[in-house]
Amino acid sequence: MRKINLGLIGFGNVGSGVIKILRERKSYLKDKIGIEISIKKICDKDTTTKRNVPIEKQLLTRNADELIYDPHIDIIVELIGGIHPALELISEALKKGKNVVTANKALLAQHGQELFALAFERGKNIYFEASVGAGIPIVKALRESLIANRFNSIFGILNGTSNFILSLMSRENCSFSDALKQAQAKGFAEKNPSLDIEGIDSAHKLVLLAYLCFGKFIKLEDVFIEGISAVSLSDVTYAHELGFEIKLLAIAKKEGSELEMRVHPTLIPKTHLLSSVNAVNNAIYVSSDLAGNLLFFGPGAGQLCAASAVVADVIDLIQDIKAGLFRPTLNIMQDISIKKLRSIDEFESRYYIRLMALDKPGVLAKISGILAKLGISIASVTQKEKHKAHIVPIVMIIHNAKEKNLRNALHLIDRLDIIKEKTVAIRIEEV
Ligand code: HSE
Repeated sequence: MRKINLGLIGFGNVGSGVIKILRERKSYLKDKIGIEISIKKICDKDTTTKRNVPIEKQLLTRNADELIYDPHIDIIVELIGGIHPALELISEALKKGKNVVTANKALLAQHGQELFALAFERGKNIYFEASVGAGIPIVKALRESLIANRFNSIFGILNGTSNFILSLMSRENCSFSDALKQAQAKGFAEKNPSLDIEGIDSAHKLVLLAYLCFGKFIKLEDVFIEGISAVSLSDVTYAHELGFEIKLLAIAKKEGSELEMRVHPTLIPKTHLLSSVNAVNNAIYVSSDLAGNLLFFGPGAGQLCAASAVVADVIDLIQDIKAGLFRPTLNIMQDISIKKLRSIDEFESRYYIRLMALDKPGVLAKISGILAKLGISIASVTQKEKHKAHIVPIVMIIHNAKEKNLRNALHLIDRLDIIKEKTVAIRIEEV
């Protein structure tokens, strides 16, 4: 085998990065792996816009069939994102005997199980390193390097856009909306920013990481998801004063025989490594029984870092093909100690709470009375400086409480006439 032919579907930002690497490092890679990687065809609905990489016109097509039904193409790289038509294209490619590389976390989070099963049935592979943490080699690490381990938890900062926004709020005292505008101006946010800021992108990635760690494919609708759009600058500031940073964490955590799957803004101690992960960086903190606690860190978005992972997958597949290896994603062992998913109602943690209350006698007594009735214990209370119209922020840290009880308490508290805004509650994670 001297040459492998590649078909690329999706000539956008990351696709152009892949072509750039394969072109500019052609002989470097050939020397390293002993095989030439040839780009046979590139498919995109836009074949006219100039990319930052020169390409011969005849390589471009708008018709994916020209790649999928070409018997000389060995590997299909799918970088169009989204569910349709990526699902149909990948399925057809596998049926036509191609191996597949994709960065499509939304697709794999929702249809991964069926696609991995189809690949298995056809004796082909789907590699997906770029789908989580761009160039950070987390998929390979969990699948291969840590194969002997059992996992206790994963805490991930998995969305660069959200982390960029929270970092600006924390370091430069930006409001949420100003920070979002800056993220958009810098081109970090994807077409639809809600996927990023509402925690959905992080949840997609969490489903994949949990599968790699626990062998269970958790349905996206079973992941508790809360984004960062309700996080205010004052909460970031008060959290600082209490010794915390606010991060959007994606958490898969074993608690006895139950698995928690959740994405939400979280207060983490300033002293923890994850709290210093700033800007568009991602980090995955994995707790394993043999290798201990490991931190994977790096840029979570960007053309060349994501393309680096795609090219690595292509080369991995080439090595498999060369060695006659078949390493299906479906053979990940299930952690049989996990019996069920823990619902968010049953989840317990410490909480940060900010109430906006009238500044008059008896206010704290009313609030603490409701909390006490629901068995919720206050660890600390601070009343902040006077605000407009005698409304003051009261910041509390709550001892370990059940989410259901806390929600019930806040529902009652928010109906009091002394409470003037919806109370903010943010979970605290000791990590
Ligand atoms: N939109 C993602 C992020 C990058 O902001 O992290 C691609 O996964």
